Amino acid sequence: MTMVPSNFAACLEEIFAAIENVDGWLTSREVEFLALAAACPTAEGEILEIGSFRGRSAIVLAKASALADSCRISAVDPHPVSGPTIEDEHGNPSAIALFEANLREAGVRDRIEIHQMLSGELATQWDRPLRLLWIDGDHTYTGAKIDYDGFSPYLTDGAMVAFHDVLTPFGCTQVFKEAILEGPHFGPVGFCGSIGWGRFRADATEARPFAAEKEILARRLARLCGYDTPDDCRGLKKLYYHLCRSRIPHARLDPSDWARRAAA
Ligand SMILES: C[S@@+](CC[C@H](N)C(=O)[O-])C[C@H]1O[C@@H](n2cnc3c(N)ncnc32)[C@H](O)[C@@H]1O
Repeated sequence: MTMVPSNFAACLEEIFAAIENVDGWLTSREVEFLALAAACPTAEGEILEIGSFRGRSAIVLAKASALADSCRISAVDPHPVSGPTIEDEHGNPSAIALFEANLREAGVRDRIEIHQMLSGELATQWDRPLRLLWIDGDHTYTGAKIDYDGFSPYLTDGAMVAFHDVLTPFGCTQVFKEAILEGPHFGPVGFCGSIGWGRFRADATEARPFAAEKEILARRLARLCGYDTPDDCRGLKKLYYHLCRSRIPHARLDPSDWARRAAA
């Protein structure tokens, strides 16, 4: 049984304060979900983040997992120099220097193993078991599939997989549908904000009780597939998209309910 730590609410407050000035796209309900998944381990292993940007989700994962197993957290991102940067020790604009500075400021730098490279490259070297795989890197179909295919072999029994932006017009929606909703090894599954999540079961018969629910969600999610970027979804298409998305439950989660469901 997965329990929500008694100090989870206090930790969330601390997390929101720590990320207040860190750029990123996670909404408050998504921050709550990610914190919950980190604070309530459903399996043995480490946490891997694909796509760090300036550290918003890495800070959430580090602070929340400290309530539970304080497991190793790895974060992979090539950190290209674009958007906000600070100067590195040579006076050059640097995205990774800003990422590290944000982690230090939040007091979690020592918790994160940083890999400055593409996720596909890291996958060729990876050999460690994962309890939480957080995919928020290349949102195209090909990119998200490389991430899922590269790291899913390391999911331990009961591990969580969470994809960002599956309820946003990106190619990763289709990967989530195929791998998690149509894959026989996942259940329970769900959405929170634009995050899609699923629990991996090594023995597919353990996931079978969730098959009907997954089939309904897969049918609804299919209507949101076929986009590679939000620019492809405009005008009437956008109205239809929003209508179809409203049929997929993705509200803020009650922590205890989620923990009960996630452990099912
Ligand atoms: C949406 S941002 C991540 C936001 C971050 N998770 C957060 O919540 O603050 C996407 C990031 O993925 C990185 N990225 C894109 N393709 C990647 C890949 N193939 N491997 C690793 N990171 C990638 C980009 O450099 C960018 O920083």
